[in-house]
Amino acid sequence: MNRNLVIASGNLGKLREIESVLSPLGYTLTPQSHYSIPEAEEPHPTFIENSIAKARHAARLSGIAALADDSGLCVDALGGAPGVHSARYAGDPRSDSANNAKLISALRGVPQRKAYYYCVVVYLRHADDPQPLIAEGRWHGQIIDDARGTNGFGYDPHFFIPQLGRTAAELEPAEKNAQSHRGLALAKLATQLA
Ligand code: IMP
Repeated sequence: MNRNLVIASGNLGKLREIESVLSPLGYTLTPQSHYSIPEAEEPHPTFIENSIAKARHAARLSGIAALADDSGLCVDALGGAPGVHSARYAGDPRSDSANNAKLISALRGVPQRKAYYYCVVVYLRHADDPQPLIAEGRWHGQIIDDARGTNGFGYDPHFFIPQLGRTAAELEPAEKNAQSHRGLALAKLATQLA
């Protein structure tokens, strides 16, 4: 199995998390920006289609094996939104603070706060790989109005885990990876890679 991978993402928060799970397993990860690969289009209505599109784009332009993650926040009271639109929920340019403001505003007066993060990772040995490795993960929590914590990225300051009494942004990186949607998906993928 090839241990040199291009990571099909420009999101620094994600890159750090992916690296901290896979580097100790002996994988050498290079962000697609290193190859001057622009971000892929994500036009699809499902996470898996977008993840495959990103991995294929990065594998094609780099010429090496690629790993992509497509992920998002799904809020029950919002019918699963922002979902696949999580990164640009508040529009362009992409902004975590604008996304969080829109989320809290959409939930004003709504008592039902259940939500989960979803992540699907795709590994392609090459751009036309007919047998991608695929793994997914979910992480359940609740959305709180007041931001707490400075770790993580995206919606983490508003994503509260009742069992821990903390938001995702109040967790140390290793704690987040041990239970997050991405950590879980990557752990499953690592088993398949091995
Ligand atoms: P993608 O780059 O299209 O997969 O968009 C993922 C988006 O979902 C991110 O930009 C965040 O808004 C959100 N997201 C996914 N995973 C996380 C996480 O672990 N913490 C916070 N936000 C996340």
